[in-house]
Amino acid sequence: MNILITGGAGFIGSHVVRRFVKEYPTYHIVNLDALTYAGNLENLKDIENQPNYTFVKGDIGDHDLIRSVFKEHDITHVVHLAAESHVDRSIQDPLIFLKTNILGTANLLQAARETWKDTFEGKRFYHISTDEVYGALELDKGIFTEDTPYDPRSPYSASKASSDHLVRAYYHTYGLPIVISNCSNNYGPNHFPEKLIPLILNNILHKRPLPVYGKGENVRDWLYVEDHARAIDVILHKGKIGETYNIGGHNEWKNIDIVRLLCDKMDAKLERPIGESRELITFVTDRAGHDLRYAIDATKIEDELGWVPQETFETGIDKTIDWYLSNQQWLEHVTSGAYQEYYERMYK
Ligand code: NAD
Ligand code: DAU
Repeated sequence: MNILITGGAGFIGSHVVRRFVKEYPTYHIVNLDALTYAGNLENLKDIENQPNYTFVKGDIGDHDLIRSVFKEHDITHVVHLAAESHVDRSIQDPLIFLKTNILGTANLLQAARETWKDTFEGKRFYHISTDEVYGALELDKGIFTEDTPYDPRSPYSASKASSDHLVRAYYHTYGLPIVISNCSNNYGPNHFPEKLIPLILNNILHKRPLPVYGKGENVRDWLYVEDHARAIDVILHKGKIGETYNIGGHNEWKNIDIVRLLCDKMDAKLERPIGESRELITFVTDRAGHDLRYAIDATKIEDELGWVPQETFETGIDKTIDWYLSNQQWLEHVTSGAYQEYYERMYK
């Protein structure tokens, strides 16, 4: 397999790239990433010199570049993660979400269709998506299955829903061999500190206010990022063409409960008086159109492909906290902007 992984310098993408480079020395992994604010090649330092790995800096929307990458590397598989991913940014500046998530995906689909036109045999286009396309659930009622109708509420989720529809359209119209997965909230190492868990950990470290939107009653279903990367591996190899798989950890938490848990765990690890960090909790104006609850039914991938999460929330969150405490330089580089010079230093 010659696999084009898009967005491999981001949070989830970096775990997927590392997994494939390490687990499959006979595959060639091409990581194409535009290195937006969310792309960080420091996430991949340990594998950047592996012989089965190539990094290409570029935009998924670049017509000529994408076609030349397909041809030059004889791409047989695409694992498409590149996206604008942060809901709050999509509320501030929606158009870049439409450009990258919709038009960028369309450009990749079209390049795959053109380059693979002689035969789709042995080819696969795997699109990584989110549970947010299904909309919002009431508290304690309902769960998202693969048959839940789409009902996206934010510019981010609308752009992801749109890209999912396009991917399915290429399957139905042209027979492009596609597969899609929709995953719940990930957490773990390399998570950009604009997202809830790393933001709270970073702010606790620096004794800054911990912003909780609204009353903190919103519920998210959390999955450790390496469990997601393993699910992506399983779906790429064993998923059925044309199918959709939901991925989740059966692990629902109210935001305020997570924030309190992180406060108590960090106080213990940093040997601060228990309760000190909770004092930093600050309720702030709610996110516009804030989805109340997400919850994933992952029965299909469990039953049909044999994937189950390996981490419980307790083990995953301890690993995550320990990673952030031992990688404070990573956090410092991300918050100071120094990480963005890594490409210039290493690749130019
Ligand atoms: P991220 O924001 O951490 O990383 C996105 C990566 O894409 C970055 O490296 C960025 O540089 C790159 N990128 C952005 N625009 C690009 C462009 N035009 N061309 C090429 N590269 C570009 O995102 P993430 O949290 O790792 O999410 C990865 C994927 O998984 C996204 O498609 C997202 O919708 C999906 N997803 C995320 C979660 C989650 O909890 N984080 C859950 C389910 C699905
Ligand atoms: O469900 C999957 C989605 O999870 C992915 O598709 C998105 O790419 C990913 O960013 C994530 O979206 P969320 O909006 O759920 O994640 P975020 O970390 O931004 O917020 C988690 C919850 O915490 C949400 O209810 C909003 C709340 N929140 C967030 C921030 C940043 C706060 O209360 N305070 C904050 O400062």
